[in-house]
Order: sequence, then C-alpha cells, then structure tokens
Amino acid sequence: MNIKSINSTDEGLEIFWSDSNVSCFPWFWLRDHSESFVDLHPDTKQRQIDSFSEPLDNTVNKVWLDKNAQNLYVKWEDQSESCLSYGLLKCMSTPAPPQSIALQFSDLWNSPSEIKNFPEMSYEELIGNNGIKTWLENIQRVGFVLVTGSPATAEATKELMERIAYIRSSIFGEFSVWDNKLENPDDTAYTSLAIEPHTDGTYLHDAPGLQTLHCIRRDAEGGNNQLIDGLAIAETMREKHPAAFEILCNIKIPGRYIKLDTYLQAHRPVFRINDDGEIIQVSFNNHDRAPFRLENNEMVRFYEAYGIFHNLANQTNRQFEFCLEPGTVITFDNWRLLHA
Ligand SMILES: [Fe+2]
Repeated sequence: MNIKSINSTDEGLEIFWSDSNVSCFPWFWLRDHSESFVDLHPDTKQRQIDSFSEPLDNTVNKVWLDKNAQNLYVKWEDQSESCLSYGLLKCMSTPAPPQSIALQFSDLWNSPSEIKNFPEMSYEELIGNNGIKTWLENIQRVGFVLVTGSPATAEATKELMERIAYIRSSIFGEFSVWDNKLENPDDTAYTSLAIEPHTDGTYLHDAPGLQTLHCIRRDAEGGNNQLIDGLAIAETMREKHPAAFEILCNIKIPGRYIKLDTYLQAHRPVFRINDDGEIIQVSFNNHDRAPFRLENNEMVRFYEAYGIFHNLANQTNRQFEFCLEPGTVITFDNWRLLHA
C-alpha cells in the first residue's frame, strides 16, 4: 500500500491510498505527531513540540509529499514545518483506541504433543547471528524456550540473561542462586514441597515477565518441572465455558505475600483482556490467593469458574514435564504459562 494522492479539506488532510481507502487526518493531529528534528528529538524519539501551552496557528500554508511519497510535509502559517513519515501515516490510517498488545495465539498447546517445532536451540545458536531473534520468536510462539549446551555456572547464566534483557529485582533479590536446603525458606519454591501450577507474582502490580531457570548442580531425586499453556486454557474456556471465562475476566482476585516485615498485595483477574477481548496476561496462584468475599450467589459462580481453570491446569496431559539438567537453561513467559 502506498500514498496515491492527498487533498486538503477544512477537517484535515485526506490521504488516498493505493488500495482505494481514504484516511482523513486532522490538522492538529498532524502537527502534534510531527517527526521533524525540532518536533521529535532525533535520538530519544521523545516529543518536543508543545501543542498545548500556546494556541498554535494551524492555518496551512502548503502541503506536499516528497518524491517517492515517503514523507509528508506541512508548512504552517507561522512558518514552522511538520514532517510525517509514510510509516507513521500508514500504521495510523484507521482510527482505533490505543490498547495493549495481546498474546499471540497462533501456537496454542493443550498438550505437549501439540507443540509444533519444539522450542529448543543451542547456546552457540543463541550467541550467534540472529540468535536472540530466534530465541524471542520461540517465546512468543510457544511461551518458552530451552537453550542447551550452556556453561553450567551462575556467571554464564547471568551473562546469558543479560544478553537478552536487564534483570529485574524482586522480593527474592535480583539474580540468585539457591537450593532446597534453606533453614528459613521465604517461599515454597525453596523447599522440597510440590507446588501446584501457578504464575509467579500475583501479589505484584507488575508480575515478572520472562523467567529463566538453570539447574547448575543436581544431586537429588525428583524436582521435575511442569509447564502449562495458560493461554490455551483461556481459549478453551472462552469456547466451552463462556460464562466462567467471563467471570475470570472480571473478578480481580487479590494475591498476597506475607512475611514478618513484608506485606505485598495486588489484584488481577485470571484473564486480563484488551478492548478486543484478547488475552494480555494470565494470572493464577491458588496458594497466594488472599481472602475475599462476594455476594453468596456470585461467590458460588466464582468458585465454579475458578475450579474449572484449576482443574484444567492440573490435567497431567496438559503439562509439559521435564527435569532440568546442568547445561540446559529454560526461559518462559510468566504472563502466559503456568509452572509447577
Ligand atoms: Fe513459581
């Protein structure tokens, strides 16, 4: 699609696209979205134009396109000039309320056998050309990725994580090495107890996004991990249990974390959705659910809906089970997958 022609009107500038569609951009919007060096800082890409302090004279003096219609220029009566790129105009061609990007649901998996192209890559592949892109694509597609052949040290694991993003701090520290022999464990995760499928940080306003685990030394029986596609459960419930799905989109369940000197709490529905009803985030942790009480009939409906989710997440045939070995690093999307 490219720009065929333009036409000035009182309402704004009409852009006629090669696919026969027409967009009418208001003059004020065009000026506010100018990408010229003066209006948008060339390095920081932060808006510099002040559209509000003083009334701007948005009388148009001249409008034109450059040679290949890659940029639109507007000269205003006050002699200032706006410039907008084809790319910006094209992606803004249809008005729509801004909203969060949904999780991609092209590769949902209701059982490990449904995982197409198993998301595994070697350490060499990751540190090579386009390695990070492949790594990210796997996470977006399936919700997790395994990196094999990594050096089995804490330093190398930290380095690997920092190649991809900065490491966020949490109540448990930043990057940390731990075992199941702590005397006063902060969390069930540091014990030998089994943990039901859950997402982490339901008590945080901003739950961890990507989480990475590496078993550096293994000298015990058990310790298997399970991953479950929460997005696949969401889509199953949307189809088969629409009323329960609706409830889990609406009730903001409190999650809590309590220690002697710490109290954390946040509220989120199991399914956080955008304006189009698409899933942005799945949050579920029955262990960390804080007390709340609805009207009796609503409470009953909530328990039913929550129970459906719980039982689907606990179906063993949904769970991808694996045992981490030194050298294999797993990263998963905590906004999509549950783990146990
Ligand atoms: Fe966890």
